[in-house]
Amino acid sequence: MYAYFMSETIIAPSVLAADFSCFADAAAEIDASGAEWVHLDVMDGRFVPNLTFGPKLAADLRKHSRGIFDVHLMTVEPGALVPAFAEAGADYITFHIEAAIHAHRVLTQIRELGKKAGISLVPSTPVSHIEELLPFADLVLVMTVNPGFGGQTLIGECLEKVRALKRLREQKNLSFLISVDGGINAETAPIAREAGVDVLVAGSAFFNAQDKKALVRRLKGL
Ligand code: DX5
Ligand code: ZN
Repeated sequence: MYAYFMSETIIAPSVLAADFSCFADAAAEIDASGAEWVHLDVMDGRFVPNLTFGPKLAADLRKHSRGIFDVHLMTVEPGALVPAFAEAGADYITFHIEAAIHAHRVLTQIRELGKKAGISLVPSTPVSHIEELLPFADLVLVMTVNPGFGGQTLIGECLEKVRALKRLREQKNLSFLISVDGGINAETAPIAREAGVDVLVAGSAFFNAQDKKALVRRLKGL
């Protein structure tokens, strides 16, 4: 089934906003909330000015979660980390076009390891920079903040890229998923859904919510 026939928006809580001393608890909260994916933000202190975790966290967390592991590499030379995250149990591995000269090679590398391949754009990168890559991608992650930190405000203009990607997907008869990341909460989710996203990443909104089940339903528009 093509992605754009799917009716329910997938929710991907980001453990970036969790308490880093209790990742297994965060995974359990995500499972219990009705969210389908677990978003893992990997930062190297070079591509972005922040550091998080590596493949060992993904491998250890795998045992504590039923969710789809959505790894978001915010790292230079992303291809170097792909085998380790594939081995750790990632389902989707997404990297930044701004970090990869040979992005087609990296997408192919991910697929050859049996994983879904994603490509991401920071707010200043236009969709045209990835147009040739779309047939080789299973997911496009549109950043709606500058990556590096949680808790920032969504840049509404970036949602125009979601509309452009939807048009291209239809024109080219492709089936990649469209995800947005940054500043998603109960107030901004409706405009993102209206633009046509398939996946909503939410960090602070999810972990700050008292009733996570209710938040997930609101994010989905149910
Ligand atoms: C930002 C990360 C996001 C982050 C989103 O660099 O890629 O996934 O966790 O956090 P919120 O939802 O708080 O904007
Ligand atoms: Zn992310």
